[in-house]
Amino acid sequence: MNLVLFGPPGAGKGTQSQLLVEKYKMIHVSTGELLRAAIKNKTPLGLEAKKFVDAGNLVPDSLMIGLIKEVMEKKKGGLLLDGFPRTTAQAEALDELLTKEGTPLKKAVFLEVPKELLKSRLTGRRICTKCGTTFHVELHPPTLNRICDNCGGELEHRADDQPEVIENRLEVYEKNTAPLKEYYRETNNRFVPVDGVGDPQDVFSRLKKVLEI
Ligand code: AP5
Ligand code: MG
Repeated sequence: MNLVLFGPPGAGKGTQSQLLVEKYKMIHVSTGELLRAAIKNKTPLGLEAKKFVDAGNLVPDSLMIGLIKEVMEKKKGGLLLDGFPRTTAQAEALDELLTKEGTPLKKAVFLEVPKELLKSRLTGRRICTKCGTTFHVELHPPTLNRICDNCGGELEHRADDQPEVIENRLEVYEKNTAPLKEYYRETNNRFVPVDGVGDPQDVFSRLKKVLEI
């Protein structure tokens, strides 16, 4: 089963994706992570995307739809889409691609978290530079300062987790991505809200319940 996991910045998409992948061996596709890797490696996509990502704006639909097409040519079955789609145009393109493959999207899970919580989650987030595991300085601290519990790699602050950029990302989300709730409600009733507040394991239990796995 392919799955879309969407929600505002800091809702816990990455955190829940890690849990879903560990338990159910789904293929995690985070467009944010793909873009950050492209930027780091200075690929043509990375060079074009950098100014949008750094400012907390959306990378244009044409680039993102091209990227997801490439991913879907290489990876088949059980895709866990984290951060894609983010606009109605992207959602329509994804529906078209999956329907063509004979695996139409059945559920789009929305992680619901109030805005006040999102900001503190994002400012305190730290990410392992080696394995990508996510921590939070207060809510989910690593055992050793700045060292990943999972692989010993160094933890870093994401470039777009600065207060002004966070503010813009939240506005961009409200304007462009929040309307997807309506899109998935109106198209085959696929919208599945999940309360994203509380311990990550509790959120994961709610997630498993709605997915019936
Ligand atoms: P992306 O990387 O997707 O960022 P985002 O959507 O802003 O979401 P985040 O990754 O910041 O948050 P998350 O929901 O994954 O939360 P996390 O689990 O880390 O995109 C980055 C940029 O790329 C975009 O701004 C845009 O420029 C571009 N982009 C990407 N996709 C695009 C697309 N399709 N179209 C156009 N542009 C695109 O958790 C956050 C923190 O909270 C962590 O510290 C974690 O430890 C903590 N936490 C998580 N869950 C809990 C919990 N239950 N309780 C307490 N703490 C928790
Ligand atoms: Mg993420």
